[in-house]
Amino acid sequence: MDKMWQGRFQKEIDTLMEDFNSSIGFDYKLYEYDIKGSISHCKMLQKVGILTKDESDLIVETLEKILIDVKNGKIQFSVKNEDIHMNIEAILTERIGDLGKKLHTGRSRNDQVALDFRLYALDHSRIISNLLLTWIETLNNLAKEHKETILPGYTHLQRAQPINFAHFLLAHSEMAKRDYLKLKNYYELYNYCPLGAGALAGSTLPLDRDFTSKDLDFISPTNNSLDSVSDRDFALELLSIISIGMMHLSRLCEELIIYSSSEFGFITLDDAFSTGSSMMPQKKNPDALELIRGKTGRCYGNLLSLLTTMKGLPLAYNKDMQEDKEGLFDSVETYEKSLMIIVPILKTLTVNKDKMRLACNEGFTNATDLADYLVNKGVPFRDAHNISGKLVYYALNNSLSLLDLSLDEFRSFCPLIEDDIYKAISIETCVNNRNTLGGPSIMDVNRVIELN
Ligand code: ARG
Repeated sequence: MDKMWQGRFQKEIDTLMEDFNSSIGFDYKLYEYDIKGSISHCKMLQKVGILTKDESDLIVETLEKILIDVKNGKIQFSVKNEDIHMNIEAILTERIGDLGKKLHTGRSRNDQVALDFRLYALDHSRIISNLLLTWIETLNNLAKEHKETILPGYTHLQRAQPINFAHFLLAHSEMAKRDYLKLKNYYELYNYCPLGAGALAGSTLPLDRDFTSKDLDFISPTNNSLDSVSDRDFALELLSIISIGMMHLSRLCEELIIYSSSEFGFITLDDAFSTGSSMMPQKKNPDALELIRGKTGRCYGNLLSLLTTMKGLPLAYNKDMQEDKEGLFDSVETYEKSLMIIVPILKTLTVNKDKMRLACNEGFTNATDLADYLVNKGVPFRDAHNISGKLVYYALNNSLSLLDLSLDEFRSFCPLIEDDIYKAISIETCVNNRNTLGGPSIMDVNRVIELN
C-alpha cells in the first residue's frame, strides 16, 4: 500500500521501520479531537472558497459517521497508516473517494497534531478541575463534622501541638484549591488555536484562522506559526500541575496509611477500599492509598521524560515530539482515577476520636501552652520554654502527663504557677485558644469552611 507521502520515494518502507515509526497504538486516543479539528478545517475551506458547499457537506457528514463508528468499535486502525491523523483521512477517502484527499489542503500533520493534543489537554484540564471541586467539597464536608475532634499535629512525625481533625482536612483542601486555580490559569494561558500554522510557516492559501479558532471555542488563533507547531509547553505545564497535585494526594495518603496502622489507630478504612493478604489471614491493607502514593512516582517520571525530550530540539517539529503523548495520557488517567477513588475512601473511613484524643494527652502536646501560660505571667519566653521543658522531663520520668502534676509539683519549678494552670493547658483550651488567623480554633475553622 502506498503511503500518503510515497511520491518522493523509490522503495517501500521497511516493516521494522513501519512499526517503529507508527504512533496509532497510542494516539488513537485523540480520534475525537482529530475529527472535530478536521470538521472545522473543512468548513473553513468551504468558507474561503477552496471547497464547494456540496464537497464540504459530504466530508463533514462522513467524518461525523466515522466518529460514531469509531466510538462503537466498528473501526480498526492500521499501523500502515502510521498515526491517527492519516488513519482517519484514509478511512474518509475509502468512503468518499478522491474528495477525501482534499481535506488536508492547507494543513500539515504538524499543526494537526498540535491542535489535537492541545484540545485533549484543555478538555482534560476541565475534567480534572471538576474532579478537584468534588474533592474540595468532600474535604470540607468531613471537616464540618470534625471541628471538635482533637488529634496531635506533628512535626518530624513527633507529636507537636494539638489541632482538630477539621484543621488537618482543611490543610489538604487548601492544597487542592491551589491546584484548581492553577488549572483555571492553565486554561486561559493555552486556549489558543494552532490550526493554520501548517508545517511551520503557514500557507499560501487564503486560510481563515479566525474562523477555525472561533469554531473550536478558542480565544483566538496563536500568534506565531513556528511556535505553534514547536512547543509542547502546554503538555509540560499540565504534567507539572498533575505532578504537584499527585504529590499533594500522596502526602495525604501517607498520613492516612500511618493513621490507619494499629500503632496509631486514628482511622479505620472501609473494607471496600482495602485488600487482604494471600498468606496472613489477619491483614487488611491500605492498597488504594499506597497505589496513589506509588503512582505519583510515574507522574514525576512523565514530566521529567518530556522535559528531557524537548530540551535540545531545534524549532520546528521533530519526530522526537511523537514521544509527548503516552506520558501525558498516563498522567492524566492516573490523576483522574486517583481523584475519583480518594473521594469515597475519605467518605467511608471511620474516625476513631478517642484514639486521637488519647494521643494528645500522652504526647505533651500542651508543653508550648504551658510556656505561653508563663509568658502571660511575665516570664520571658526563653525562660518559660526552659521551665516547661524541665516539667516535661520530670513528668516523663514519673510516667505522668503534664495535667497529672499537682500544683505543688508545678510550683516547685516556678512559683508563679497557680491553679488556673489546669484549665490553661487542657487540650481543648490548647486547640481553641490558638485563634490566630489560619489556626485550628473552632472560630477560624468555621471561617475557612464558610470561605470554601
Ligand atoms: N504522529 C506524529 C506525532 O504525533 C504526527 C506529526 C507528524 N509530523 C511529521 N512531520 N512527521 O508527532
